[in-house]
Amino acid sequence: MDREPKASKERKSEFKTPSGISLKQVYTEADVASFSDDRLGLPGVYPFTRGVQSTMYRGRLWTMRQYAGFGSARQTNERFHYLLDQGQTGLSTAFDLPTQIGYDADHPFSKGEVGKVGVSISSLLDMETLFEGIPLDRVSTSMTINAPAAVLLAMYIAVGKKQGVEPQKLSGTIQNDILKEYVARGTYIYPPGPSMRLITDIFSYCARHVPNFNTISISGYHMREAGSTAVQEIAFTLSNACAYVDAALKADLLIDDFAPRLSFFFNAHNNFLEEIAKFRAARRMWARIMRESYGAKNPKSWQMRFHTQTGGSTLTAQQPDNNIVRVTIQALAAVLGGTQSLHTNSRDEALALPTETSARIALRTQQIIAHESGVADTVDPFAGSYAIEALTDQLEQEARAYMDEIARMGGAVRAIEEGFMQREIHQAAYETQLRIERGEEIVVGVNAFTLENETEPELLRISDELEQSACAQLAELKKRRDESQVRAALKRVTDAARSSDNLMEPIIEAVEHYATLGEVCDAMRSVFGEYQGTQ
Ligand code: 3HC
Repeated sequence: MDREPKASKERKSEFKTPSGISLKQVYTEADVASFSDDRLGLPGVYPFTRGVQSTMYRGRLWTMRQYAGFGSARQTNERFHYLLDQGQTGLSTAFDLPTQIGYDADHPFSKGEVGKVGVSISSLLDMETLFEGIPLDRVSTSMTINAPAAVLLAMYIAVGKKQGVEPQKLSGTIQNDILKEYVARGTYIYPPGPSMRLITDIFSYCARHVPNFNTISISGYHMREAGSTAVQEIAFTLSNACAYVDAALKADLLIDDFAPRLSFFFNAHNNFLEEIAKFRAARRMWARIMRESYGAKNPKSWQMRFHTQTGGSTLTAQQPDNNIVRVTIQALAAVLGGTQSLHTNSRDEALALPTETSARIALRTQQIIAHESGVADTVDPFAGSYAIEALTDQLEQEARAYMDEIARMGGAVRAIEEGFMQREIHQAAYETQLRIERGEEIVVGVNAFTLENETEPELLRISDELEQSACAQLAELKKRRDESQVRAALKRVTDAARSSDNLMEPIIEAVEHYATLGEVCDAMRSVFGEYQGTQ
């Protein structure tokens, strides 16, 4: 073997991933000494490190599922049709904040927020408009809704019935992940106990009546957006997942009845190698947790199927076209990490919701990766890479240590109530910001390679008139509906909330009588109260 080259000075004293894992100058076979092919396994085979399907993207490309929603149901329906016409293969619905927190458009708390960060939905009438002309037996729909997830799912089932599509034929996902709302996103309504009950009611109802619907999208995305590291993203997401499994088992559900329809949602951040390794580590960890810790027998219960969104918090307002490059690298990491579904952010989203042009470029990014880069043509091409396998092992070890600490605290719900996850994320975010401000971490266009006098690009503006028309439509709806039926149906929701009965059926009946989202959520607020958050 030739003499080793003389060690030359390196441009930094140490190289670390954003999670703080030290990066070696060169990885060699010695770094994966414990590595063997049966440890890695094959795609589609337990522990699924290399992917959940044996053929992965050779069998079916990931779902190109752009998160979309703004203004009225009509405006969003038009954007849905545009994106489907441009080749996206799944829908992903963004709701405005009033909808996400269970207030109708005409509630005083909704003022100034109607249709601003997502589509405004107050009633089944809005949902019918939202999905007009979209065959729900042929398109899978994701809904980013958590606290009032049961109500939006009920409306979706009701729209399906109006289209002649039975619940058994509906496919899609409801985010329905309240724990990360307490940690990072904030759109919660009820306290943890009633919230977990609503979630397991959805598990139970869908297992029997809507078997092709993914009942939860256990999300690391927002905790990462709040500043967590990749290690924390894995650990906190999987700890939350264990809390949901425990709650379902406590509600006497059978693990192989609900676990196959658990799904996950991760961030794709800038550090290409760490992100690829993160997805592979998380998938392997979940497979082991489900088979070895929970004793699930159905291989579909062991498979971690996940959606990825590229990192919104990495987008810069400065030189927005640079974001197209960031999103490409992040999307490539998600694909090389084996994602089942992908949203690529638009270049202007650090400034506003995306324009049609920006949303199209974001979708084209996925299509170029899928059809021109070649990376979808062989399964898990980075397997066996010394660096990737070493990073996968290290991320797994560090995430496992965090999970053990959370388990010792009594699990995710206790850890959240004590503010543990929140503190860890805030500390990580603070350290990242310090690195950026010291120039140790470069953000191109922000703390290096900046431009003077940048011009603002064309942005999407949401008109305030929407609020008035939404309120007028609600007033009209309340005149037309059968008020006595609505009152009786809402009382059945309140009675069910007081009992241990599954809430889904009374909620479906109420929305079919055009009880509004706010009325149904209030019918439960009167029993569950509202969560005030940790001080
Ligand atoms: N061979 C054989 N079959 C295959 C295959 C292959 N290679 N690849 C896929 N398939 C099958 C699958 O098994 C599945 O069949 P099944 O439904 O009978 O099991 C079918 O093809 C569809 O494939 P997937 O289930 O893998 O893909 P989907 O896109 O349907 O589902 C998911 C992906 C991750 C499981 C699902 O939960 C999903 O779509 N999640 C999306 C969540 C989402 O969009 N969230 C957005 C959140 S936005 C947000 O919160 C951020 C904001 O706050 C800023």
